[in-house]
Amino acid sequence: QARRDSQKRDGKPTVRAKTLKQTGGKVVISEPISVKELSSSTGIKANEILRKLDLSGVVLTVNDNIETSQAMELMMEWGIELEVTEQQSAEATIVESFTSREMVNEQSRSPVVTILGHVDHGKTSLLDKIRKANVADGEAGGITQATSAFCVPVKAGETERVVTFIDTPGHEAFTEMRSRGAKVTDIVVLVVAADDGVMPQTIESINHAKSAGVPIVVALNKIDKEQATDDNIQRILGQLAEHDLNSVDWGGTTEVIRTSAIKEIGIQDLLDILDYQAELLELKADFGGAAEGSVIEAHIAEGRGPVANILVQQGKLKKGDFIVAGKGYGRIRALIDENGKQVNEAGPSTPLAILGLNAVPEAGDKIYVVKSLKEAESSAKERTQQA
Ligand code: GTP
Ligand code: MG
Repeated sequence: QARRDSQKRDGKPTVRAKTLKQTGGKVVISEPISVKELSSSTGIKANEILRKLDLSGVVLTVNDNIETSQAMELMMEWGIELEVTEQQSAEATIVESFTSREMVNEQSRSPVVTILGHVDHGKTSLLDKIRKANVADGEAGGITQATSAFCVPVKAGETERVVTFIDTPGHEAFTEMRSRGAKVTDIVVLVVAADDGVMPQTIESINHAKSAGVPIVVALNKIDKEQATDDNIQRILGQLAEHDLNSVDWGGTTEVIRTSAIKEIGIQDLLDILDYQAELLELKADFGGAAEGSVIEAHIAEGRGPVANILVQQGKLKKGDFIVAGKGYGRIRALIDENGKQVNEAGPSTPLAILGLNAVPEAGDKIYVVKSLKEAESSAKERTQQA
């Protein structure tokens, strides 16, 4: 008899309310609690709930929300214990869906290298040389650099590996990103001028790299200068050792590469070491599925609206995707690569400029692809309200 009943009900559990009433069970429900939801999850008829509420002077309809404490109290009359879970913010829901990401197409990815160091020690000059050394002659001058990061194919031995260099983060941007918990870099190149040595911002940079837990490669730059004497170099190696960067020269593990951005010395050595370090890290990412990344820098460009320079970290970012980035959201109108060229999609470790956000996000904000504009909007609005 019972079996025929349950079959008629299409396999659905039979009269759950009765079981709960009889046994006095526990019901998990999330805020906000509407009378309707309370009824469906406990099996107690909405009319009964409303009548009880009415008796205590609370007049509601089925679709109204009932206060959490009241709902808990009320359910005790039926011997039901409510376990109420707080309403999750739209942002938290999105973040959670990415934290529990199911890999679609996991592959090795390019390392992301950030150059840090004291003012004027030669960070930009070194990057320029790294970039030019690897861009075909004649092309170099003509390239419009659209983003603050770029990819360089690095040849070390037989393998060729693309390395992504991030140009913007002077240590301030890096601090900002760190404070937001954004981890964009895999390796730090610490530039120290051989005629100057370890300076306040060098120490700050070391601390940033340490707290990010990423390996540090030192570029002892301006080695061409006459002040770059052996004595001076040994003194600097001592300063580095004081900050736990014991050089390979001194029997430690920190690679200290002598470079000159001006005379183009040691650039390939530096790239070889980066290639080697990257190999050790065995970096992997999902090349399929919804994309996520981090904002490196963002601003308003005349006639273009908000432009965000970002780094894709997981998944495939596509033109037309709905995205949320901090307090900005929208639909990607254009993806622009480091050469100023529009592309339709991009995978992990690719730096890009994106157009289509309604507001300028902040450096270090995570960027997520979501299913709908509505989802993106509610998350971005939460951020705006918090601010
Ligand atoms: P900020 O971005 O201001 O922190 O400076 P930076 O670290 O990017 O230094 P930048 O590359 O702008 O170089 C500062 C100065 O040092 C410039 O005048 C460069 O020409 C000079 N310079 C950089 N590298 C070398 C080098 O290897 N040898 C010599 N002699 N001069 C260098
Ligand atoms: Mg610079």
